[in-house]
Amino acid sequence: MAMSPERGFIGVPAYEAVPDFCGRCHIGVKEDYLLSAHGQAIAEGGANCVTCHGNHVVVKAGPEIINPEDCSQCHGYGQAGEIKAAIVKTDEMLASLAENLGFMGKKGIAVKSMESETFALRNDFRRLFHSVNVEKISNETADFQQRGMAIQQKIDAVQTELDQRKLIGGVVTGLLVLASLICFLIRKTYQQEEDGSS
Ligand code: HEC
Ligand code: HEC
Ligand code: HEC
Repeated sequence: MAMSPERGFIGVPAYEAVPDFCGRCHIGVKEDYLLSAHGQAIAEGGANCVTCHGNHVVVKAGPEIINPEDCSQCHGYGQAGEIKAAIVKTDEMLASLAENLGFMGKKGIAVKSMESETFALRNDFRRLFHSVNVEKISNETADFQQRGMAIQQKIDAVQTELDQRKLIGGVVTGLLVLASLICFLIRKTYQQEEDGSS
């Protein structure tokens, strides 16, 4: 039944048609893929989208997909390993940004704009792998690191401001406590004087 045309089944795309099939929605990835060694060699067995991602069970995409078992089926692992090393660094940075922003969001701090920046950074970065070009990936990794650091600096700035506000709040509270203590002592002194005179 799942393969009945009445239910909208349009057939299994041919191996070489898969990038167009998935690329209807994943436009950016498709662009990078078509220019890559894989896209260029698709007629000679270059890996296509489904080779690495599966078809119906599209699993969470991340650097784990790059591993000797899956990537050595058609060629050596050397360049794949270099690419993975470069990607993992940025992946960790993105995870730490997301964690920091999540933490701040929970405290009620406005993080929307920093979150959208991180989201855009993440989307641009996730495309990069598909070029499977070691040089391009190492060069652009520096750029991505810088963009990530810029977001982290904004996070740090907000944190510093909060710490300062806390400090000022603390000082003000301290002064108020001191003032009420002085008031109390003055009143007590007057009361004692009144008691003494009566
Ligand atoms: C009709 C549009 C559409 C088509 C066609 C499509 N996808 Fe997607 N895909 C999406 C959307 C939307 C998401 C994002 C879901 C989200 O962000 O939670 C997604 C997510 C993904 C992810 C990320 C999974 C993750 O959470 O890390 C991968 C990988 C992926 N798709 C691969 C493919 C592959 C391979 C094909 C072709 C077999 C394909 N997609 C076809 C719309 C599509
Ligand atoms: C050689 C293996 C390989 C091929 C071929 C491949 N991908 Fe990927 N894809 C990956 C890896 C690895 C990642 C994760 C990269 C990262 O962590 O930065 C990824 C990430 C993605 C994501 C990002 C998911 C997210 O979290 O936003 C999408 C979408 C995606 N691929 C779709 C496609 C589509 C569509 C094609 C075909 C045009 C394709 N991929 C071809 C290995 C592959
Ligand atoms: C289905 C076969 C197949 C699989 C699986 C495959 N590749 Fe490829 N790959 C190719 C072909 C074909 C080429 C182009 C000819 C060549 O350079 O060997 C290529 C080329 C490459 C290149 C060389 C790029 C260049 O500019 O010289 C890299 C890097 C690469 N693949 C990475 C990967 C990674 C990473 C994986 C695993 C996520 C992977 N490949 C899985 C078929 C495959």
